[in-house]
Amino acid sequence: MSDQPDVELEARLAEQEEFEPPASFVEQANVTDEDIYEEFEENWPDAWERAAELLDWDSEWDDVLNDDDEPFYEWFVGGELNASENCLDRHLADRGDEVAIEWVGEPVDETRTYTYNELHREVNEFAAALREQGVEEEDVVTMYMPMIPELPVAMLACARIGAPHSVVFAGFSADALAERMESADSETLVTCDGYYRRGEPLDHLEKARDGLGNVGHDVTTVIVDRLGDERTVDHRESELDYDSLVDEQQGADVDPVVRDAEDMLFLMYTSGTTGKPKGVKHTTGGYLSYAAWTSHAVLDVKPDDTYWCSADIGWITGHSYIVYGPLALGTTSVMYEGTPDYPDKDRLWEIVDDYDVNQLYTAPTAIRAFMKWGKQYPEQHDLSSLRLLGTVGEPINPRAWKWYYKHIGDEECPVVDTWWQTETGGMMITTLPAVSNMKPGSAGPPLPGIDANIVDTDGEQVGAGRAGYLTVNNPWPGMLRTLYKNDERFINEYWDEYSDPEADEWVYFPEDGAKVDEDGYVTVLGRVDDVINVSGHRLGTMEIESAIVGVPGVAEAAVVGGDHEMKGEAVYAYVITEDGQEENDAFRDEIIEAVEDAIGPIARPEQVIFTHELPKTRSGKIMRRLLEDIANGDELGNTSTLRNPDVVHEIEAKVRGD
Ligand code: WTA
Repeated sequence: MSDQPDVELEARLAEQEEFEPPASFVEQANVTDEDIYEEFEENWPDAWERAAELLDWDSEWDDVLNDDDEPFYEWFVGGELNASENCLDRHLADRGDEVAIEWVGEPVDETRTYTYNELHREVNEFAAALREQGVEEEDVVTMYMPMIPELPVAMLACARIGAPHSVVFAGFSADALAERMESADSETLVTCDGYYRRGEPLDHLEKARDGLGNVGHDVTTVIVDRLGDERTVDHRESELDYDSLVDEQQGADVDPVVRDAEDMLFLMYTSGTTGKPKGVKHTTGGYLSYAAWTSHAVLDVKPDDTYWCSADIGWITGHSYIVYGPLALGTTSVMYEGTPDYPDKDRLWEIVDDYDVNQLYTAPTAIRAFMKWGKQYPEQHDLSSLRLLGTVGEPINPRAWKWYYKHIGDEECPVVDTWWQTETGGMMITTLPAVSNMKPGSAGPPLPGIDANIVDTDGEQVGAGRAGYLTVNNPWPGMLRTLYKNDERFINEYWDEYSDPEADEWVYFPEDGAKVDEDGYVTVLGRVDDVINVSGHRLGTMEIESAIVGVPGVAEAAVVGGDHEMKGEAVYAYVITEDGQEENDAFRDEIIEAVEDAIGPIARPEQVIFTHELPKTRSGKIMRRLLEDIANGDELGNTSTLRNPDVVHEIEAKVRGD
């Protein structure tokens, strides 16, 4: 029965807190020697050369690390390479006819296969087309695309000509697209007519065009025809058809541009404490080495594997672990367009079965949904090809971990719970699957070469089992180099809190809370800034608040994350209206729509609560903690320090629906 707890599993696994790597996995794993931790410690930073050595370089680096101008670190200094060449050309001689991308459309039976030869061909043609449109080295090209093969093609085409890409998640709104294009001065956009969601063709172009209406400079737009006859597009001026562009360049060869290791490979906008998204800058040498190394060491990717990360390329996980890491290693990367429950709740398991997937990397939110739907869905399929399972994006509760381990991995696959961020470029804290034991709920020790600590507000290390703030004390190759054109914000956001510049001590602060066990295993507790994590998607509460206060009739708003059984966290919006504004459902819908317009449906508030006041300290600061407690239905702590303690109970009653 799907909604009944699995009694046998509960009984046997509930008590077990530590799991050894399965022997069958260890036998064949890429990294098996536990001395690797010591090796990195003793030989740091030079040990990182082993990551760079996974790539082909046009010229080798002179220095592994340059830390003369902290925190503006440089890695593999003087080295030269091209990311597209590393993901394509170097595989052609031996693996040209092997599959690079297995693309599965949402409509059943709509699939496309790209061998390395074919992917290389199309990337060359599109790179030539971009050049012909005037795109030059260092010009930022924006992609606003769903999970279709032309997205990785466009990314690799950009990499080939040295034009950094900035991919905007297709679920983001028109306004979010415009903001990112303006911020990056991006004059080229690659998008598409639409895509499928739960069987329905969805218009995407209208959103893209709306967004462009708010971009203050001229933009050339390339439109991929995803929907075919389902939708015909009348191209407007400055809109070009992707297929025609590629056809015109048939057979074109574009020499990969030689890029310095520190040259920008891409920008990725992510949410932070303030209303404005941050343009995280990643570089060619360090980032690509790190994505390849972690794919090799943690995901155990080998060229002959069929590997599947079910994230969206619009987020960092898809960049590092659908495109760059797996393709740099010459493996087969699966890409799925749709949702996991279309046409039925076994879609993912059907894909694993059909393609003999070896590794599956997904999010805890998805696992919680699978668990709710029931084990009968995976049981309909042969999942024995799986060798490793991974999770990313948010904390995983031990029950979901164990369900994944048992019902998807059949207790034969290690589960890697990987903690990292857009800014870190790749995984930072996780077990090495053949080396360390797994502890459900705890990501594991920091990876070799990563020096992470849990500290209190003064920066002093806290004892085992106590909650504190996660910090990283050494640089690593995949780290962001700066925020686009904003070095000052880069320092303020990540380095101000715990560094001591006078003493030359630079400490990276990821803004997560965590605790560490006696054995060095880190459990990440979640964000300690104004960022919330909805279904593994990172959202800034300030961005949502600024959308809400933009609605005429709203006087003030406070947005917090409340616990949510499926999504991890959900958006709760507390709103004070202006005098005379009616507080009814129509107004509530208006607020919700404003959030969807500014950011996208993922930021949709779970509840909009009207109140005439917000709980504030005597100095006027909104007590967000209390608003979170109210959203969670938790017992409220001491409210006597508030300027207005009465309002708390009033709000509480509203949330409960009294
Ligand atoms: C959270 C996604 C617990 C964390 C790769 C981090 C996690 C934020 C985990 C980054 C994990 C990511 N356990 N929390 N395994 N992985 N997080 O930038 O709060 O979209 O700071 O990168 O997700 O989200 P981002």
